Amino acid sequence: MDLRSDPRFKGIEPFEKKVWLSSPTMHGEEQKWVDEAIQTNWVSTVGANINEVEKAIAEYIGVKHAVALSAGTAALHLATRLAGEKLYGQARPDEGTLAGRRVFCSDMTFDATLNPVAYEDGEAVFIDTERDTWNMDPKALEKAFETYPDVKLIVLAHLYGTPGKMEEIKAVADAHGAIIIEDAAESFGAKYKLGGKWVETGALGDYNCISFNGNKIITGSAGGMFLTDSLEDANKVRKWSTQSREDAPWYQHEEIGYNYRMSNIIAGIVRGQVPYLEEHIAQKKAIYERYKAGLADLPVKMNPFDAEKSVPNFWLSCITINEDAMAPFVRGEQDQLWKTEPGKSSPGEILAAIAAFNAEGRPVWKPMHMQPIYRTHAFITAEGNGRGRSNAYIAGSGADVGADIFRRGLCLPSDNKMTPAQQDIIIDIIHRCFE
Ligand SMILES: Cc1ncc(COP(=O)(O)O)c(C=O)c1O
Repeated sequence: MDLRSDPRFKGIEPFEKKVWLSSPTMHGEEQKWVDEAIQTNWVSTVGANINEVEKAIAEYIGVKHAVALSAGTAALHLATRLAGEKLYGQARPDEGTLAGRRVFCSDMTFDATLNPVAYEDGEAVFIDTERDTWNMDPKALEKAFETYPDVKLIVLAHLYGTPGKMEEIKAVADAHGAIIIEDAAESFGAKYKLGGKWVETGALGDYNCISFNGNKIITGSAGGMFLTDSLEDANKVRKWSTQSREDAPWYQHEEIGYNYRMSNIIAGIVRGQVPYLEEHIAQKKAIYERYKAGLADLPVKMNPFDAEKSVPNFWLSCITINEDAMAPFVRGEQDQLWKTEPGKSSPGEILAAIAAFNAEGRPVWKPMHMQPIYRTHAFITAEGNGRGRSNAYIAGSGADVGADIFRRGLCLPSDNKMTPAQQDIIIDIIHRCFE
């Protein structure tokens, strides 16, 4: 049924221009730096824009070195490779550095966080999510070390711009001598209080990454960065990202290389965006707060954060529907069905209603342990093994927090160009879903 003709939505007109989940917001300065690159002929993977953004972002995040790369995924790949080489030694060119090794990974994240573990021939073990910030559960992480005490690498993300429980996670990692790759792709500009001191996400791990993908808090259309305090690590990543050339008059190679360096044109766009990071965060925060107030009378909860220990960048505003207000809703692998019930709704229905009026929401990122590609991989919850927990002869089964948030949750239109009037209409549409 076309929800526009559903009597519950009578009187609502579709948005003339689509309201996006999170789209690029240009300010004009970007053009200046792109033009300068072209006029000075630095249309390459070297140039002033690259140098300037590396400097500005290292300074903002509070790390000594930033390496500009073609994508957040490239940064994550080289961070993962670097960690693998540090832990297990240099690999043959046809073999990943994590061959035969397990790596503990965030479960509820975009797959780019942990696909590099597979690029490096390692095996991701997924760690369940906690309910306070929707990030890696330190209790599940501790359980994972009970089962796999030899693991030395943890890859974690800060979902939707909300910092995870880094104090607890770092304590677990330290106790087991493991190192951390921090994926701050979604959380650039978010802060966390570590040991009583505010630290930017992107400076909390041993190897850290951010993204300038078109949907991120600031963008270069694409691009990413590797962040570190170690000059040696920064130099290694820079070398690998430009095909691993040795110091010789000809192309000489002792290590496998990649073409992962950021273009000076992309860097020009990022350079024009950097001054607007704080403004974008303030806009996203206002959107989050408007949803929170506007939806307060409904049986839903906003994506949570720890207000004492973190300042999110509020990249995406999300909700979960309370269990007792969930209308019937089932998902297959690629399709879904929902039913309307008075006083209840479902992510399927709300997303369809939002889409019918020309706005973009999205389901919460489907947890990795539920993805067909990773279904054979281990999954650890706060109670231990997350696979095969139910018993045909015994009632009750353990919690799978990620699956639950995925089932009841959705991301709302969070574009920083959305006007308050447009947001009020979206809030109205959501109310009508519960009629
Ligand atoms: C959590 C997370 N990690 C990594 C990435 C990958 O970044 P990129 O698109 O720049 O490769 C994204 C988004 O794109 C992301 O949301």
